[in-house]
Amino acid sequence: MILAGKKVLLGVTGSIAAYKACELLRLLQKEGAEVRVAMSEAATKFVAPRTFASLSKCPVYTKDGNPEGRPFQHIDFPRWADLYIVAPASADAIGKFANGLADDPVSLCYMSSQGEKWIAPAMNSTMYLSNAVQKNLETLRSFSDTFILESPAGELACGENGPGRFMEPSEIVNALRMHSVDGEGSQGSVLITAGRTEEAIDPVRYISNRSSGKTAVALAHEFLKAGFRVYFVHGPMDVKVPFGVFDVPVTSSQDMYDRVLKAQSKMDVIVHCAAVADYRPKNVSSTKIKDSRSQLILELEPNPNILRDSVKSKPEKQVIVGFGLETDDVQKHGEEKLAKSGADFLVLNTPVVNGAGFGYDQVPFAILEKGKPVPELSMGSKTELAEKVVALVKSKREALGA
Ligand SMILES: Cc1cc2nc3c(=O)[nH]c(=O)nc-3n(C[C@H](O)[C@H](O)[C@H](O)COP(=O)(O)O)c2cc1C
Repeated sequence: MILAGKKVLLGVTGSIAAYKACELLRLLQKEGAEVRVAMSEAATKFVAPRTFASLSKCPVYTKDGNPEGRPFQHIDFPRWADLYIVAPASADAIGKFANGLADDPVSLCYMSSQGEKWIAPAMNSTMYLSNAVQKNLETLRSFSDTFILESPAGELACGENGPGRFMEPSEIVNALRMHSVDGEGSQGSVLITAGRTEEAIDPVRYISNRSSGKTAVALAHEFLKAGFRVYFVHGPMDVKVPFGVFDVPVTSSQDMYDRVLKAQSKMDVIVHCAAVADYRPKNVSSTKIKDSRSQLILELEPNPNILRDSVKSKPEKQVIVGFGLETDDVQKHGEEKLAKSGADFLVLNTPVVNGAGFGYDQVPFAILEKGKPVPELSMGSKTELAEKVVALVKSKREALGA
């Protein structure tokens, strides 16, 4: 779902996670959505309605009504909204929704809303696993207009560990982006390779590199935001796989090669962002290599070139973006790499500037395009880089009539 331009009603109930609804509100606004807020009385004991009123620039619907004193807010607000998100949703609110009770702003809005309703439960594990809450969630799952946003088990506000944890606001936004991605606003599918690869030497050692995975995560976010279905084929990374992507973990370059080439024909766009090892040990020892205190020579052989082979078998309207990291004569080597690979675009970057590159949020980069002059590298955030890639891919697809 494209959130830009959507009218979102945010219901907040009495949970310790209520403060996270402020962040959710801001993230929804960042996506371009307009947000209004309804709060249960218990929620107002956790966060003051004034906070939500200031952030949403609109009076909040509470049990006392609002300063404008509109008499039918329980109908006006849900009718105004394209979708209703209750986050966090308390056990009490879930019980009301499932059983048709409507005695406070949040449950009243649930009952009188005609659009999609999204519920993000938040509570202690014992409450969450209780027969009553599980039965109520089951009932809600059976409603065609209601979707439950559930977080994997993890650490809870009370210090315990288990299910019932509130889904992180950024994950909620991604889940909404992913929803009906084949329908309204759908842009097609993109495969992004991410992270680094590990090339085994023996059962405990490997050759790898310093790639953190941050650029690929920024790309995944931007492609999701633009309405793409994202397949994320990744080696080890220092950052979390973004919520809302199809997660395909791999380890070695050969694994990554096999997964990419297998999925290639089904994709509209491929972005080769992973830092793939060019070489791998020719012979992998099945037992740990012993320390003999004498010189050890590792013989390396080249890995298959994923970018070049994927360009060779690319369907007609597929757009392929390669990445090239260079440390010397950057532009010349970038131009050669673009020509050799045959990709539509090459994102050229370099790790040599202090405070930017691997693991950092800033990176010096330039995006090279087939047949166009090579631009100078300039410093930008990984999000800016990702936004530019998505914009170029979209216009290329338009030009191809895809
Ligand atoms: C400090 C504190 C934290 C609470 N956290 C939660 C929670 O995370 N989830 C929940 O379902 N109830 C929680 N409760 C209980 C609810 O606030 C209580 O059931 C309330 O009646 C819910 O009302 P509402 O559904 O109208 O917002 C908490 C209560 C307190 C005092």
